[in-house]
Amino acid sequence: MSTAENTQPASASQPASASATSAPAASASSSASEAELAGLHFDPAPSIAGEVPGPRSSELLQRQAELESNARSYPRSVPIAIEEGFGATMKDADGNTFLDFFGGAGVLNVGHGNPDVLAAAAAQQRKLVHALDFPTRTKLDLMGKLKRLLPGRLRDTARFHFGGPTGSDAVESALKLTRAHTGRTPVIAFQGSYHGMTSEALAVTSDVDCGGPLSSPVHFMPYPYCYRCPLGLRPDGCGLACAKLVETSLKDPHSGIPKPAAVIIEPIQGEGGTIVPPAGYMTELRRITSEQDVPLIVDEIQAGFGRTGRMFACEHDEIVPDVITMSKALGGVGFPLSCIAYDSSLDTWGPGSHIGTFRGHQVAMAAGSAAIDFMERTDLVAHAERLGELALSVLREAAAGMPSIGEVRGRGLMIGIELVSDREARTPWPQLAGSLRRACCERGLIIEVGGHYRNVARFLPPLVITRALLLSGIEIFLQTLRELEGVLSPASSGPAD
Ligand SMILES: Cc1ncc(COP(=O)(O)O)c(C=O)c1O
Repeated sequence: MSTAENTQPASASQPASASATSAPAASASSSASEAELAGLHFDPAPSIAGEVPGPRSSELLQRQAELESNARSYPRSVPIAIEEGFGATMKDADGNTFLDFFGGAGVLNVGHGNPDVLAAAAAQQRKLVHALDFPTRTKLDLMGKLKRLLPGRLRDTARFHFGGPTGSDAVESALKLTRAHTGRTPVIAFQGSYHGMTSEALAVTSDVDCGGPLSSPVHFMPYPYCYRCPLGLRPDGCGLACAKLVETSLKDPHSGIPKPAAVIIEPIQGEGGTIVPPAGYMTELRRITSEQDVPLIVDEIQAGFGRTGRMFACEHDEIVPDVITMSKALGGVGFPLSCIAYDSSLDTWGPGSHIGTFRGHQVAMAAGSAAIDFMERTDLVAHAERLGELALSVLREAAAGMPSIGEVRGRGLMIGIELVSDREARTPWPQLAGSLRRACCERGLIIEVGGHYRNVARFLPPLVITRALLLSGIEIFLQTLRELEGVLSPASSGPAD
């Protein structure tokens, strides 16, 4: 087991509240070629003619309802049938064009239909699609690129494992690896977490509504959600008490928590409501887990691949995990692919310990490789960081005069706006979030809703979005919110979705 590479307090800023705002970066420009990025979207966007859903979308939604599972979810809150995607835009079956601030739940970092990625995928498809875990040039090429991009010592020591193609599969692999290595079973996860839908991934997922947690020995610690501190403390004087709780739980033989196989954490909670840990928290967690000889798994499935303005979100805190999970944007433009990267000292499981038929999807690997090339050529990570600063400053400035915005937070292009019916009491307002998502869709903007109380509007746009498209989407969002704020009563009930 490795020790922390850097235990200095991170210099990253605290999540700022909506009221404490400054707006520095309104003139942010990008070193990525704006001209190249501008050509990667449908134009004009958004462009809506008539009602949403229009007649063709309505017909397809109806046919879907007759054929598909009751468990389907997104089309209930964003009622469109999607026909085509390009960059940060999508067309529906009626020819309406939408601005996509959802990005396939964080998959489409290089944009829908990225031409470089599609060309690489098409070339690979003609050669070889399926290869189990045999070595291929395509896979070795991808691993070589990934290794170069990993944080700290993992650049030298990392091993990769490709399991099944989803994020949940990567979480399964990470848990299995650390359990096999330590010989221990319990795991520590965090309140508000989302790690997937397979049984072990569900076991470390805190959302009871979607079936988690299962009965595996998992202990949930409070995530550092400073806006609603689970310990009732204030970030300016808490001394990171929530990290201290992890430490005492691991050290105290009477904590009721047996020594775990791993601690698993999202570096920014995504589905939990885009919650950014305060400066120093992840560094503390790294110190504690290293000192207690417990592997630290950082789940970068949503926050990784440039999303937060760093290749991996844990880089903001200058920590090096023992295991990193990846998926979503790893497959380029939506080809399913996942893997874990981990310190070679953990590589003590035996041959065939974790297998799966679809662990060698060559097209997805070629697409992922081309996506990395594209990101590097266009300096997309720096672009995401700059646009993220711009978006946060515009939103925070607007929030000062909008009572329903409790907090604006995020990093890079992973942004959350927490909606409240009473700013003083911080009362969650999920009905507003649900109505807002629907109304934004009708005006051509697709957003996501998440959070512990389903009251956080979430932006995860493709990183190729231009400054102009980003600002026009934010304008639609704010205008729609201003109108709804005045019309909806805080007591209004109804489904949050
Ligand atoms: C942080 C995180 N981990 C794991 C998953 C699960 O990924 P998948 O839906 O591909 O199984 C998700 C999905 O949203 C996620 O956000």
